[in-house]
Amino acid sequence: MTTSTGLRVLVTAGAGGIGRAITEAFVAAGASVHICDIDEAALQQMQAQLPGLTTSVCDIADRASASRMVADAASALGGLDVLINNAGIAGPTASVADMDPDAWEAVLRLNLTGTFTVTQHAIPYLKQSRAGVILIMSSLAGRFGYPNRSPYATTKWGLIGFTKTLSRELGEFGIRVNAILPGAVEGPRIQQVLAGRASANGRTVAQEEAAALANQSIKHFVNPAELGALAVFLASDAGRSISGQLIPVDGDSQSAS
Ligand SMILES: NC(=O)c1ccc[n+]([C@@H]2O[C@H](COP(=O)([O-])OP(=O)(O)OC[C@H]3O[C@@H](n4cnc5c(N)ncnc54)[C@H](O)[C@@H]3O)[C@@H](O)[C@H]2O)c1
Repeated sequence: MTTSTGLRVLVTAGAGGIGRAITEAFVAAGASVHICDIDEAALQQMQAQLPGLTTSVCDIADRASASRMVADAASALGGLDVLINNAGIAGPTASVADMDPDAWEAVLRLNLTGTFTVTQHAIPYLKQSRAGVILIMSSLAGRFGYPNRSPYATTKWGLIGFTKTLSRELGEFGIRVNAILPGAVEGPRIQQVLAGRASANGRTVAQEEAAALANQSIKHFVNPAELGALAVFLASDAGRSISGQLIPVDGDSQSAS
């Protein structure tokens, strides 16, 4: 197994879903991990499960909360080597013509500006690391157009530009920056998406699941543990020459819906 022994890792939105799987992978690989999340009860549950884990309650969409959280994380860990920018919401389902502008802004505030804020405050700590790493959670929706999900797709494409730019800016400090682009991931989120499509299209959830899998070469959804394993690899010395890359984990999906 790739080791993370000694690495100090911050995972945003680490108390559920993909963030939780990434946290578990780093802890299993020997890292010291701090997670933040908006859900205090879920953070407490994670701490009970993983002794030694440190946590902050934080709303990444709130600039003051996010910047305070980074300082708390660096203080709890005694510095920072790896930042996992995982926090992101799916946002509304509506055409651009019908989009509620406030809902649009809420997605940008968390997915794009929240990622910017956390990263900006983490950079001084990462520069002091022997080998800093930033991972950014984009999506399949950062590779294709996604009808009726414009704020989500727009932010996930925006994070690609952010990744590419950060890699150019930070390489000289030995900091590597990569984006992970998951496709449909097993769990409650994909079930909600499939249920939404089923009611919109007058089909069953099973029919929507079959249609989603027909769209990819590999006929299963992504297990979140695969994303944890990839994050651990990218943060390890085995990934020391990988930066500025966009890494899809989506069974070779051919579109975003
Ligand atoms: N699940 C998928 O199929 C999928 C696919 C591609 C990309 N992604 C991306 O992966 C990331 C994680 O997705 P997920 O499905 O695990 O998410 P999720 O909806 O399961 O939520 C994960 C965690 O985010 C926390 N959270 C929500 N709003 C927050 C906020 N404002 N501040 C701090 N924490 C907050 C929640 O409390 C939860 O614990 C997101 O950026 C998402 O866009 C997910």
